Amino acid sequence: MSKLIINGGNKLYGEITAESAKNGLLPLLSACILYEGKVTFINCPKIKDILVMLEIIKYLGGKYVFNNENLTVDCSTLHSYELPCELTKKIRASIFTIGAIIARFRKAYFCMPGGCSIGDRPIDIHLDVFKKLGVEVCGDTIVYCRADRLNGAEITLKYKSVGATINALLASITADGKTIIRNVAKEPEITSLITLLKKFGAKINGEGTSTLVVNGVKRLKKENVTFYPISDRIEVGTYVLALLSTGGEIQINNVNFIHNLSLFKKIQNNTCKMVYEDDKIYIKSSGEGSGLGVVKTAPYPFFPTDLQPQISSYATTLKGETTIIETVFENRLKHFDGLKVMGANVLVKGNTAKIKGVNRLTGANVCAYDLRGGASMVIAGLKCDGETVVSNAEVIDRGYYNLEEKLLKLGAKIKRTEL
Ligand code: EPZ
Repeated sequence: MSKLIINGGNKLYGEITAESAKNGLLPLLSACILYEGKVTFINCPKIKDILVMLEIIKYLGGKYVFNNENLTVDCSTLHSYELPCELTKKIRASIFTIGAIIARFRKAYFCMPGGCSIGDRPIDIHLDVFKKLGVEVCGDTIVYCRADRLNGAEITLKYKSVGATINALLASITADGKTIIRNVAKEPEITSLITLLKKFGAKINGEGTSTLVVNGVKRLKKENVTFYPISDRIEVGTYVLALLSTGGEIQINNVNFIHNLSLFKKIQNNTCKMVYEDDKIYIKSSGEGSGLGVVKTAPYPFFPTDLQPQISSYATTLKGETTIIETVFENRLKHFDGLKVMGANVLVKGNTAKIKGVNRLTGANVCAYDLRGGASMVIAGLKCDGETVVSNAEVIDRGYYNLEEKLLKLGAKIKRTEL
């Protein structure tokens, strides 16, 4: 078990570069399963969830190789449609592979995916998509899918689920005829996936809107493809919120400003300076500011649930009140336990947390219950008085590459111990 030990109080100064998006790469890697050419991803961070996804691909018979930061995946030799339970349970994104496996083999065999415990996270919308396309689905904890053929269909997702949108796309691109998918997720990671699928030869229209139209193709190309994944908007948001919490001046490279617009709008009154040029953002902050009003999470383009724990941490020391409403995951407020131990004034009721800003937080022993909750503990540790020890820190490694190195470079006092 890892612990992060943080001595808070230092302002952050300097320059860092954001990684390619974890939540962008996981669907891109899943898409490789249905492609027989080699795909090279420029700049792929070796974070835990991505390494597990690569293990899944290897288990299924695919190959991958890292050449420094670049990753090449070759699924021409893929031979299995059975996902190993021990790997499937390690990451939620294992479910993203099922649409591609069905498209490739017309069969899939898997057990329920794992992932951060931030809610029940059922897979009913995914399974409904498969059934609409003509797939027979049997089983409960272990699921077997089979289809003689995949038929284009009209599908309306009952929620704008990111994962179900991914599976609907992957399973339909080689289906017979046209598939219309309504109420889809519009996250930038979905648009990036569509860009890759089009390079594979898929015919998809409507990216960035709520309805996607897929005209099934008989065969995809087999040419080698080079692809640039989008930058990690959640990593960018995490460092921006760390800077606003401590004060200081930082530049982040490899940023897409539009992808983080909902965050930048929320914080603009609390920044001394914010300049965006090319793919760089420069932010200066005194570390002080006013309460943020209401922060309500919802699917893109609204405020991302994946930044809710981090902005909650930031809000604990702002003058005035902030109300956090978490609408995406029913159990994503556990980080408030840690924040309260550190002195935050918070009232949590159902999916809502009312935060009254206090002057300072105090270092304490806290736990990273999940990936973004862990990031929120790190932000609190950076700005508080004294020492904070964040246990279960390996969960943070699922989504952040070189976290300590980047924070040390910005002047934070942080180190890791392994027990
Ligand atoms: C993706 O998860 C992300 N994961 C999550 O990132 C992110 O929080 C989430 O989208 C929402 O933006 C990856 O990309 C790997 P959903 P996903 O399907 O696809 C319910 C992070 O910290 N739902 O959009 O699993 C579900 O329970 C994380 O990086 C059903 O009810 O999210 C949730 O309440 C964690 N039935 C809501 O929809 C279903 O079949 C949104 O889930 C599917 C989902």
